[in-house]
Amino acid sequence: MLTQSSTNNITKTENQAGFLSARKAAINIPMGNAVIEGPVAGIILSGMQLSKEMDSFRQPDVQLQSLVHIAGLPRGRVYIVHKGRTIVGYVTFHLPDTCSRWHDHPRIIEIGGIEVTREWRSCHVGGTLLKFVFRDEFWENFIVIGLESFRNWDLKGSHLNVWEYRDMMDRLVQQVSFNPCFTRMYDVLEHPANALIARCGVHVSLDDWLFFKQIAARPPRSQA
Ligand SMILES: CC(C)(COP(=O)(O)OP(=O)(O)OC[C@H]1O[C@@H](n2cnc3c(N)ncnc32)[C@H](O)[C@@H]1OP(=O)(O)O)[C@@H](O)C(=O)NCCC(=O)NCCS
Repeated sequence: MLTQSSTNNITKTENQAGFLSARKAAINIPMGNAVIEGPVAGIILSGMQLSKEMDSFRQPDVQLQSLVHIAGLPRGRVYIVHKGRTIVGYVTFHLPDTCSRWHDHPRIIEIGGIEVTREWRSCHVGGTLLKFVFRDEFWENFIVIGLESFRNWDLKGSHLNVWEYRDMMDRLVQQVSFNPCFTRMYDVLEHPANALIARCGVHVSLDDWLFFKQIAARPPRSQA
């Protein structure tokens, strides 16, 4: 098991642009050809733009700044689908917040947002992006967790209800071996369609997996 201090050392070097082994792949869908790439350094992202149809979380220009910020965080990773300088899809990863219940765990990385530009949705861009990301051996050393929360879903734009949306999210993330997990996290318990999802890398030890399950089952801090 890595100690917290050794994890800190790794995270400081991992985000140097020269260290990141960025990969690329072509993607062809009816709307056109694009490139999947990542992890992408913040300096590259700052010279790009987000498609105007990407406003699920924030306005595109504000969200782009957020991607640049995440790319510079310890273990922050941003993967994009782009057509020239226009980003049409992205997924982000970062370490748990220092205030979060997961902060004590040395092997956890959180999946942040995933978004595909509206006119490119339902064409397997999101699924292809995730498969590209998890082809990297790097992830096999970590438990990647995510919060499926109806608060982040584009229910209006998709014309899906919460259960249909949850089903779509499950089908999306199951392609790269995420599964829903038991938790007492308030953010999950507040709505029955919400879920904690996790992907356990093949090199993660049983102790680290059990520690994850123990943290997941902790009651919210106010009830502890
Ligand atoms: C969630 C999102 C990234 C999915 O990207 P996408 O490129 O549309 O997803 P895919 O086309 O790869 O589809 C993934 C699965 O969902 C299914 N799906 C996609 N759109 C669907 C729809 N409108 N209705 C039902 N199922 C749908 C696909 O068939 C696929 O399942 P399958 O592999 O079993 O066929 C995209 O909808 C999006 O950007 N939504 C807004 C932001 C958001 O909600 N992010 C998630 C919260 S962080």
